[in-house]
Amino acid sequence: MEILRTIEEMKAWSRKVREDGQTLGLVPTMGYLHEGHLSLARKSISACDRTVVSIFVNPQQFGPDEDLDNYPRALETDQRTLEPLGVDALFLPTADDMYPEGFQTYVHVEEITEKLCGKSRRELFRGVTTIVLKLFNIVQPHSAFFGEKDRQQLEVIRKMADDLNLDIEIVGLPIIREADGLAMSSRNQYLGETERKTATSLHEALQQAQQLVAQGESSAATIRARMRTIIEREGQAEVDYISVCDPNRFEELKVIRGKAMIALAVHVGKARLIDNCLIERI
Ligand code: PAF
Repeated sequence: MEILRTIEEMKAWSRKVREDGQTLGLVPTMGYLHEGHLSLARKSISACDRTVVSIFVNPQQFGPDEDLDNYPRALETDQRTLEPLGVDALFLPTADDMYPEGFQTYVHVEEITEKLCGKSRRELFRGVTTIVLKLFNIVQPHSAFFGEKDRQQLEVIRKMADDLNLDIEIVGLPIIREADGLAMSSRNQYLGETERKTATSLHEALQQAQQLVAQGESSAATIRARMRTIIEREGQAEVDYISVCDPNRFEELKVIRGKAMIALAVHVGKARLIDNCLIERI
């Protein structure tokens, strides 16, 4: 696995791949890799001739009161984990290279970034779309792989790719869960022992919602209320949002007809956890 630290090295490497007529997959990450990330890398390796994983903790997607400084980092372990998978290159740019002095160009997707996570994390999506477009321009992949745990992020990136006519296939892959249902996330490591138990209530609430819909419940308010009861039962969890919404535009629904997304964000101790599922009521 080649370690590429500068934008020029990365561009030269990917230019060679394309000159050789090979397809290139990109897995953008912020590191502290878990099975969710590895499932993206494995998919890219099986779908594309060559795979690049990038690790960059992007300062532009953290608000001033968020966890940029404490965000977990484990570069050596990440490197050791990726090597045997068959990843061809690891791109490790620096913040100074990505955002040199005088940087002033940002990518902003409108309406869908104002909902859900965008309401409480104002900087998030502008930072994500800016860094992802920069990575796309530097790496020039044919396909890029993202997890569905961040389903709003995935849809925002799809919208950007569509609106800006990017010739890149955006691939979303299923959430990978721990044995007790907790969605894997680098931020899970903030959880203490009892918080870790509380955190499983997100998945429990989603399962309860799915069950209610399967039993014929169509009122979004009833589903949100039942989910809130499950989350707040623990006392340690603070709900940011519980949403039953249209899966593409993220408009809140009153009545579920056809496809919907159920999503939630919950603070448990220092961790802000998110989870979601898609449902269909026929
Ligand atoms: O999902 C993430 O880890 C990040 O938001 C991403 C897509 C790597 C951009 O920094």
